[in-house]
Amino acid sequence: MPESLEQAVARRRTFAIISHPDAGKTTLTEKLLLFGGAIQLAGEVKAKKDRMHSRSDWMKIERERGISVVTSVMTFEYGDHVYNLLDTPGHEDFADDTYRTLTAVDAAIMVVDAAKGIEPRTLKLFEVCRLRDIPIVTFVNKMDREARDPFEILDEIEDKLALDTAPVTWPIGQGRTFSGTYHLADNAVRRLDSEDTRTPVNGPESDSAAGLLPENDREAFVEEVNLAREACKPFDIEAFLEGHLTPVFFGSALRNYGVRDLINALGAYAPPPRAQQADTRLVKATDSDMTAFVFKIQANMDPNHRDRIAFVRVCSGKLKRGMKARLSRTGKALGLSAPQFFFAHQRQLADDAYAGDVVGIPNHGTLRIGDTLTEGENIVFQGVPNFAPEILRRVRLEDAMKAKKLKEALQQMAEEGVVQLFSPEDGSPAIVGVIGALQLDVLKERLKSEYGLPVSFEAARFNVCRWISADRRADLEKFIDAKRGDIARDLDGDPVFLASDGFSLNYEGERWPDIKFVHVKEYH
Ligand code: G4P
Repeated sequence: MPESLEQAVARRRTFAIISHPDAGKTTLTEKLLLFGGAIQLAGEVKAKKDRMHSRSDWMKIERERGISVVTSVMTFEYGDHVYNLLDTPGHEDFADDTYRTLTAVDAAIMVVDAAKGIEPRTLKLFEVCRLRDIPIVTFVNKMDREARDPFEILDEIEDKLALDTAPVTWPIGQGRTFSGTYHLADNAVRRLDSEDTRTPVNGPESDSAAGLLPENDREAFVEEVNLAREACKPFDIEAFLEGHLTPVFFGSALRNYGVRDLINALGAYAPPPRAQQADTRLVKATDSDMTAFVFKIQANMDPNHRDRIAFVRVCSGKLKRGMKARLSRTGKALGLSAPQFFFAHQRQLADDAYAGDVVGIPNHGTLRIGDTLTEGENIVFQGVPNFAPEILRRVRLEDAMKAKKLKEALQQMAEEGVVQLFSPEDGSPAIVGVIGALQLDVLKERLKSEYGLPVSFEAARFNVCRWISADRRADLEKFIDAKRGDIARDLDGDPVFLASDGFSLNYEGERWPDIKFVHVKEYH
């Protein structure tokens, strides 16, 4: 019998991994994909990244600096579920990309280094997840190394993130003595040396649990398990789904240990595709009309084709290859002739995709970040954020004759979300804005290699940028008239106020109480 829409939706789990660089995200990704049979050998994810690097010039930046700029999606099946893992750049200079990707997931795995605990970037990414109440499953990684006391790690998660913890497994030893985990509720042991079997035991003191440890450590382990059971909260699915409690697993991604429990937990507890808020209504994943939104654009995935891929998250209905969808921003029809799924090392035409799935749609600049595609009524999804840039620059061309070409190139880069582009009201040259300095490097490299435009950057007299609005149109117009030299328009034509520093922004804010200065704009 063909799968119903309800069944297809119920099987999907769309998630991201959040962590501080070096905590083990890449290693864990590889191991998750291994379980899904998506790759044959551990190490493929890194190898793939290396191959991709050598293909394209601008990616040199990644290679030289040892960072991952590329966000991608990986789909795999395991057990009864289809998993869509959305990868995010590790470097904070690309934070806006990461935040937008997090708008397309329903759950996240938080990887914590067992020796380091909660690190700054994990904290930041967690805060983004919290804004959307995204449920989090925690993986305490690197237990095969010298680690902190598990209670201390749990306390730190509770204190720093204000998130309740429910340890599901408990580590048997750590570092050199790490020999497996004890399932607190089920009284079962998974051993490091036979990860695929789970053995029921009589209690923590049994030979198959404490008995795995050196004589001197056994008593402490039994006490710990008993204390964990008494003092820690039990897992509560409601609290988890509301984003108030995280189940915690201990393991070692490098040793491929604990990953099975983690993926099983995602399948069992993480939510199927959630309803998404559009301007006029809440769109349920099982609604029959196809709807989707663009959260990322990536150019030059394959330089041989010079293509531009828009990554869309399907929110409802069924996306079928060959169907026509409507682009809400323009009202125009768009034929979806070659939607694609991405696996660890290949892409494949997507015949059908359901809510929670992420597909790539090749296009030549028709699609922008934040765009909504629909099959039925015209709706616009809310919530894909655009952050005010932290760095503003004017672009200086070496060859002034190429100004028109530069304008086009910048427009394209802005549509892809590489930079933000602001056109001053006074007609002076455009200003580019970025969150992190590395984005400027990417822009420079790409302008040179893809458009043949060598450029440099000049400081603008502005350092702060805010979108402006007012309840009454007349108030906004008055402000824009009075401040014309400090006003610019973004890609959508929305006005921004540019200030030299935070002080003058505050000053104007006090002088113009009817004007709202906002730091985050939602695409619309
Ligand atoms: P990231 O994507 O979060 O930045 O981290 P990544 O997986 O690249 O891991 C960072 C380093 O930590 C790597 O070592 C990796 O091998 C190591 N690692 C990851 N998980 C574990 C674990 O469970 N136990 C131990 N002991 N190490 C782990 P590296 O030396 O920096 O890189 P590599 O040369 O080994 O690839």
